[in-house]
Amino acid sequence: MNILVTGGAGYIGSHTCVELLQAGHEVTVFDNLSNSKEESLRRVQEISGRSLFFSRGDLLKPADIEAVFQSQHFDAVIHFAALKAVGESVRQPLRYYQNNITGTINLCQVMAKFSCKNIVFSSSATVYGSPTIMPITEEFPLQALNPYGNTKIIMEQIFRDLVISDPTWNTIFLRYFNPIGAHPSGLIGEDPNGIPNNLVPYIAQVAVGKLPFLNVYGADYETPDGTGIRDYIHIMDLAKGHLKALEKLSNNPGAVAYNLGTGRGYSVFEVLRAFEKAAERPIPYHISPRRPGDSAICYANPTLANTELKWKAERTIDDMCVDTWNWQSHNPNGYD
Ligand code: NAD
Ligand code: UFG
Repeated sequence: MNILVTGGAGYIGSHTCVELLQAGHEVTVFDNLSNSKEESLRRVQEISGRSLFFSRGDLLKPADIEAVFQSQHFDAVIHFAALKAVGESVRQPLRYYQNNITGTINLCQVMAKFSCKNIVFSSSATVYGSPTIMPITEEFPLQALNPYGNTKIIMEQIFRDLVISDPTWNTIFLRYFNPIGAHPSGLIGEDPNGIPNNLVPYIAQVAVGKLPFLNVYGADYETPDGTGIRDYIHIMDLAKGHLKALEKLSNNPGAVAYNLGTGRGYSVFEVLRAFEKAAERPIPYHISPRRPGDSAICYANPTLANTELKWKAERTIDDMCVDTWNWQSHNPNGYD
C-alpha cells in the first residue's frame, strides 16, 4: 500500500515507518518538524534499507497537505501529528485545540477531496480519564482531564460523525497506553525536548548522568509497593499494531477504537529495578509528593485488539528497558 504518515518523524511515527517499509509498503512522511528532527527519517531508511519520501509541511496549512495529495495517490493515512504535552495543553489550550483539531479537520477535508477515506488515528488511554475499575475496555466512558485529552475525545467524535455522514470512510482509533522503548538497533528512539515529563525517558537520562536523580511521584498509593502502576508497551509492538489496523481498514470497519496495551501493569519501582538491571547501575531516586492529576493504576484490556486485529504485545518490560538503554547510551543527546 502507499501510506501517508503524518507526524512520521516523531517518536511513534518513526518506529512505525520502519515496520511499514520492512513490510514492503511505500511511505511518505508529512511533518513540520515542530517536535522532531529529519535525522530520525535518515535513520529509518538506514535501518530498513529502503527509502521514503519526506514532505515538510504543516497541517494548519491546507495548501501543504494538498501539495502532497496532488503528487501521488494514497491508499491510507496514519495520522500521528499532534501536540502531546499534557501540562503545556493546560497552559496553551487554544494552541492545542487549533493544532490537533483544526489540523485533523484540514487533513480530512483534503483526504475527502482526493478520495482517500482510510485513516488510522493516534488516540490515547487518556480518553478514559481516571477510572477506578481495571482493566479498561473500549466501552468505558470517555472523560478528559485536560485540553490534550479533550482534543483526542473530540477528534474521535469527529471521525464517528464523518462515518455517519459518509459510510465509505474507514477510521480506526488506536488508544495507546504507555509507549516506551526504542528500535533494537539503537538508531532511533524517543528524543524529548528539555527535561522529560515521562517516567522512562527521565530514568534513562538519570542513568546516563544527565539528571541527578528520579523523583518518584508518590509512594503512598493503594498499590502493592505504593507507587503508580501503568501499562507500558514496547514501541515496536505498538508500531506493529498500526500495520494490523491498516489491514483491518479494508474490511470497512466504520469508526472503531482499539486499546493497544499489554494488559499488565508495572509500578514505578518495578520499572526502576528493570532499568537498573538493563543499565547495570544503580539509579538514585527521591520520594516526592504525588503529581497532580495522576491516577494510582491504569492498564488495558487489549482483548479486542487481540481478537479483531490479530495483534498482541510480545515484548517484556526487560526488553523495553534494554532497548531504551541501548538508544540512550549510544545517543545521550538524542538526534543532536
Ligand atoms: P511526537 O511529538 O514525537 O510526534 C508527533 C509529530 O507530529 C512530530 O514529529 C511533530 O513535529 C509533528 N507535528 C505536530 N504538529 C504538526 C502539524 N501541525 N503539522 C505537521 N506535523 C506536526 O509524538 P509521539 O509520541 O510520536 O506521538 C504520536 C501521536 O501519538 C500523537 O498524536 C500523540 O498524541 C499520540 N500519543 C502519544 C503517546 C506517548 O506517550 N508518546 C501516548 C498516547 C498517544
Ligand atoms: N512518574 C514518576 N516520576 C517521573 C515521571 C513519572 O514517578 O519523573 C510516575 C507517574 O507518577 C506515573 C508513572 O510514573 O505513576 C508514569 O508516568 P508517565 O508520565 O510516564 O505516564 P502517564 O501515565 O502519566 O501519562 C502518559 C502520557 C499521557 C498519556 C498517558 C496515557 O504522558 O500523555 O500516558 O496514554 F495520556
